[in-house]
Amino acid sequence: MIAQQTVTLSTPNDTENAGSAPTLIDGFGRRIDYVRFSVTDRCDFRCVYCMSEQMKFLPRAQILTLEELTALGQAFVELGVRKIRITGGEPLVRHNVLWLFQQLGRLRERGLAELVLTTNGSQLERLAVDLKAAGVARLNISLDSLDPARFRRITRNGDLKTVLRGIQGAQAAGFQRIKLNTVILKHRNHDEVVDLVQFALDNGLDISFIEEMPLGEIGDHDRAEAYYSSDEIHADLAQVFELIPTTETTGGPARYYRIPATNSRIGFISPHSHNFCGDCNRVRVSAEGRLLLCLGQENSVDLKHTLRAYPGDQERLKQAIISAMALKPRGHDFQLDGQPVILRHMNHTGG
Ligand code: GTP
Ligand code: 5AD
Ligand code: SF4
Repeated sequence: MIAQQTVTLSTPNDTENAGSAPTLIDGFGRRIDYVRFSVTDRCDFRCVYCMSEQMKFLPRAQILTLEELTALGQAFVELGVRKIRITGGEPLVRHNVLWLFQQLGRLRERGLAELVLTTNGSQLERLAVDLKAAGVARLNISLDSLDPARFRRITRNGDLKTVLRGIQGAQAAGFQRIKLNTVILKHRNHDEVVDLVQFALDNGLDISFIEEMPLGEIGDHDRAEAYYSSDEIHADLAQVFELIPTTETTGGPARYYRIPATNSRIGFISPHSHNFCGDCNRVRVSAEGRLLLCLGQENSVDLKHTLRAYPGDQERLKQAIISAMALKPRGHDFQLDGQPVILRHMNHTGG
């Protein structure tokens, strides 16, 4: 049962906010200034924690067009959103996706502070230069193992060398503060955390370790058995590196540490062991245009309906987004034991 919350949209007319941009505030007083757009549910990998081996993808007509995503980006920025992250599936497998980055990149003149991308890196060698030119500020790149056979086993069909070339290509294109995203699974890759941090240090990269979240039936492993907590990872790393806690933030859920005399940030994303819902500043739009108010709950609003029933009506679109804020729940209730409560797979929301 969802409690009805009071939702505020403060506007430049409010005395307190005079002169400032509008702001989306949810019923728990959290400011929403970060939106994640999943631009496709398709992917060239089949990571074991994200998908089952046989996946059925959405028919094209059901996913938002690039024009619809552009209209959405504009609406969110007019409502005070400062950061847009493009996710998938794998966003870079979507046909003509560069056009979308170019359109969204223009929103930087209208209040968008950061256009960012989460990718598996498989297409970066080809696209990094154009993404940089379009105005993408930062890249988060998934990398779960440095061992080619393991990498293939975890991604089911990914090629490590291609991803490493993608990372190099992104660095050559001038991307700064590239962050590796590493989902740690016990007995799969938990013994690689030191090597992965060393790789990040050697290459001037940041890295975030992520606890696996129970979204969708994956049929590969028992999630409770594969759980390896951020505290365990931290303890493994602390045997080798001096980890200094920081208050740095990238606007996402990671808590960061620094290692003296290096430039890398070591992050921990710990939905199970250190819940971060109280500071949640984000909503996401699924590939089929559902505005999801929480990754770990089903509360959503069908923005595709608004976009298609009232094409070009930006005010109505904004009103739908404002009203949706009342549905944002306090937090997720992920449970590792038993069947997943959230049946959608991660590739529908891009994390
Ligand atoms: P930064 O901008 O670098 O802070 O990125 P980010 O960590 O917000 O985004 P990214 O796409 O790299 O996501 C990293 C991991 O964080 C993924 O596993 C996401 O599923 C997870 N994540 C991001 N936002 C949320 C959230 O609101 N709730 C939960 N439970 N996980 C999240
Ligand atoms: N739990 C945690 N992280 C996940 N990701 C994909 N599926 C899961 C999951 N079940 C991560 C990917 C990618 C980011 C978008 O989300 O590794 O880095
Ligand atoms: Fe593809 Fe990312 Fe899911 Fe892996 S985690 S299958 S790369 S969408």
